[in-house]
Order: sequence, then C-alpha cells, then structure tokens
Amino acid sequence: MTTTEIPVLNGRRALVTGASRGIGRALVVALAATGADVLAVARGEDGLQETAALATGPGRVSVLAADLRDPDSIDEVVARAVAELGGLDILVNNAATHLNGRIEDLPLEDYQQIVDLGLRSAWLLCKAASPLLGEGASVINVGSVCSLVAMHGETAYVATKHALLGVTRALALEWARRGVRVNALAPGWVETEMNQAVLQDADAMTWVRRNTPMGRWASTEEMAGPVVFLASDASSYMTGQVLVVDGGWTAR
Ligand SMILES: NC(=O)c1ccc[n+]([C@@H]2O[C@H](COP(=O)([O-])OP(=O)(O)OC[C@H]3O[C@@H](n4cnc5c(N)ncnc54)[C@H](OP(=O)(O)O)[C@@H]3O)[C@@H](O)[C@H]2O)c1
Repeated sequence: MTTTEIPVLNGRRALVTGASRGIGRALVVALAATGADVLAVARGEDGLQETAALATGPGRVSVLAADLRDPDSIDEVVARAVAELGGLDILVNNAATHLNGRIEDLPLEDYQQIVDLGLRSAWLLCKAASPLLGEGASVINVGSVCSLVAMHGETAYVATKHALLGVTRALALEWARRGVRVNALAPGWVETEMNQAVLQDADAMTWVRRNTPMGRWASTEEMAGPVVFLASDASSYMTGQVLVVDGGWTAR
C-alpha cells in the first residue's frame, strides 16, 4: 500500500476539475484510492470515462462533461456534486488551458480564455461551493511555480497563476473561522499534454532538465500525495499556503 492508498479520506466528497487527463486524472485516481467519492469534471467525455475506469476505488467516481469557461456551467457542476455525492468536502480547482505565447503574439481572445478558465472558473466554483463546505472542508487550487516566479512567454498564464494564489490566500482568511481551509499546489514541470510542445522539442527538454535541480520532469502521480495531504486532516492547521512540488525549480 502506498501513501496515496491509505484510506484517510473515507466518506469525503470531492470535486476535481480538469480531470479528463494529466494531473487531474492522477488526482481523481488518488482521491478515490484514499476513500473519497469523486465527481470528475472536464469537457472531454471520453477522457473522463478513461479516468473513471482507472480509478479502482474504494471511493466512487462519477463524471460530468462541462466547459468551465462558461459561467453558466458552474451552478450545474455544483448541483451535480450535490446530486452525485450528497455534498462537498474537497474542491480541487485544477483545470487550465495550454494556450500561451509572448505578449506580442497572444490574441486577446486567448488571454481571455486563459483567465476565464484558470482564474474565473476557480473563483466561481469557490463562490458556488461555499454553502456546501463545512468544518473540515479543504479547497485546493492548482497553481504552478508560475504562481511564484515568472516564465518566459507566459504573461497571461503567469498573471492567472499569481492571481489564483491571491484568491487562495484571501479566501483562506475569509473562511478560516468556519474551519474551511484553502491552499494551493504549485507543480513544476510535469509530463502532460499541456507541455506537449516542450516534450517534442529536444532542446527545450534539455533546458528543462538542466534547470531543474532534480534533473528530471515530474510524473502526474507525484502530484497526488501532496494533494491528498492538503485534502486530509494531516494538514489540518494549514491554510492560505502554497505547497511547492517542483524538483527544486524555485529553490535556485
Ligand atoms: N503540466 C505541468 O507542467 C504543470 C505545471 C504547473 C502547473 N500545472 C497546472 O496543473 C493543472 C493541470 O495541468 P495538466 O498539465 O494536467 O494539463 P492538461 O493535461 O492539459 O489537462 C488540462 C485539463 O483541463 C481540462 N480543461 C481544459 N479546458 C477546459 C474547459 N474549458 N473546461 C473544463 N475543463 C477544461 C482538460 O480537459 P478537456 O480538454 O477534456 O476539457 C484537462 O482535463 C493546470 O492548472 C496547470 O496549469 C501544470
């Protein structure tokens, strides 16, 4: 049994966005493995079904296809969480888009999509989920090392991830007295579709390895233990914080 298979989340009810692949998929699998019932949300129905098939429990996984750039989708997502799970104890705002580019090249429409998904949908989900979150509930916003430091050619993404950390800290203050914790995860370079362009570029791959103190990329599974920790009572006195899981990237 690995640390992410200890049933520390038995009976908890979790909503994970961006769950049709990548980090979100690994989080759903780990949350279910540690006992949580999970509603997995993304646009791609096929990917969501694959995620559900990979999650072997003991927690149950149900899925909902929704485009979180649409503010009208948010109430439906939260209503489905109530219908499928009977409430909500863990909210993981993980969805984000791979769109990026230097400021001279990034169209306003792409900027808007990056912000609408990566920041607004997380803020709206926190707002809509608020009445459901009771004492002991945990919100985890998936930020990035870009919540803390900049990355070349990523103005909109970096701004969104910095702002998401701002929401995390501000909401942690607002909800601390009611026993609802709000923290952020800051992954470094993780092998997912989001980094497809880098993964296909030998020079860029070398640059990432050379500049990552641990000398390698993270697997999606390496994000799971930290998120289970933030979701569970193991982190019960921790709120408004960012857990950096970056192979040493920001320690340089
Ligand atoms: N990979 C990294 O190196 C890295 C590093 C730091 C932080 N992060 C953060 O980690 C999180 C997950 O990233 P990832 O690498 O796993 O990315 P990914 O593989 O591209 O997955 C993104 C997820 O978001 C979903 N999504 C995209 N647009 C959506 C929309 N409009 N509505 C609902 N869901 C949508 C995607 O599913 P559909 O396309 O099916 O909707 C997918 O499930 C993101 O917040 C990212 O910024 C990643």
